[in-house]
Amino acid sequence: MLPWITQSDFPLYLAPMARFTDTVFRQLCKSQGADVMVTEFVQADAIIRGDARLWETVDFTESQRPMGVQIFGSNPSSMAEAARLIYSKIKPDFIDINFGCPADRVTCMDAGSSLLKNPSKLGLIIRHVAEAVPEIPVTAKIRIGWDENQIIAKEVGQIAEAEGAKALTIHGRTKVQGYRGEADWEVIAEVAEAINIPVIGNGSIESASDVLRIKQETACAGVMIGRAALGYPWIFRDIKYTLKHNTVPDPPTIAQRWDTIIEYTESIMARSFRKERHLDIKWMRPKIIALTKEMPGSRKIRTALGTVAQVEDLRKLAMEHIAATEK
Ligand SMILES: Cc1cc2nc3c(=O)[nH]c(=O)nc-3n(C[C@H](O)[C@H](O)[C@H](O)COP(=O)(O)O)c2cc1C
Repeated sequence: MLPWITQSDFPLYLAPMARFTDTVFRQLCKSQGADVMVTEFVQADAIIRGDARLWETVDFTESQRPMGVQIFGSNPSSMAEAARLIYSKIKPDFIDINFGCPADRVTCMDAGSSLLKNPSKLGLIIRHVAEAVPEIPVTAKIRIGWDENQIIAKEVGQIAEAEGAKALTIHGRTKVQGYRGEADWEVIAEVAEAINIPVIGNGSIESASDVLRIKQETACAGVMIGRAALGYPWIFRDIKYTLKHNTVPDPPTIAQRWDTIIEYTESIMARSFRKERHLDIKWMRPKIIALTKEMPGSRKIRTALGTVAQVEDLRKLAMEHIAATEK
């Protein structure tokens, strides 16, 4: 058993989300009660080449532990070598392998969700990686299948377990679905019954009642939350509070939300190892838009963000928005 699954009642994972779950965002979610974090995926071959930007991507702080680093690739030996390099350099608590990414640039190199079409190779990758880092657990993240005619999560889950994976995260959508439609929790529940390693369920979780239902009705050992956390990192706090007290806590005020957004923006800009990113806020826009999505008047904010060039402009926009919503 993984220590964070036995110690914690029903761990809430923050989903890995490329370009969004940077170390500062992870810290924000951790401070709001996320239990386990996984970095966004990094390509095994690029790690081996020594791409400096990737080390920035997988950067984490001690307080973010238990922390996994997610890798993707197609060649079992390269995946093993990358896992070993990562373990030697930054000692994460686990290595997670991505078998879910639907993007063409990933599937065309026979990695991510395309490996769901080749379960024996998927198993081989898990075995090689597990043997390369015997000090820590190796886990896998899959989708339920390639398309609705090929739902193979159970078969893949059994292979993952046999080849040495210590937990399996299942995103309840197919590759063809991408990020659309509802996640299929029946398939996730079925796999959680069928295999002996912990299953972390993922997909369409938006509230404490979703988590309660999953906890009560499935054999999942925990859940992973994705997009709902991007717009509202307080979701972890809300879920924990609601499960404990049976009532939803007050949401943060608009002013508190802007404080968080500005703090986040300043922190992430200052950390970037690309100097040109320290002052110009433009590259941060998608991240800020994601964080304002659940606020009243989010469409207007989104338009206004188009002209924001510096942190000072963002502060001004925040003040105007707070004044307008307090009226
Ligand atoms: C912008 C974005 C980037 C993502 N990047 C990754 C990734 O790097 N690795 C991964 O395993 N999944 C990735 N995912 C998938 C999420 O981890 C999660 O499985 C998916 O969003 C479903 O959960 P949700 O319905 O709660 O959003 C990404 C999703 C989004 C929206």
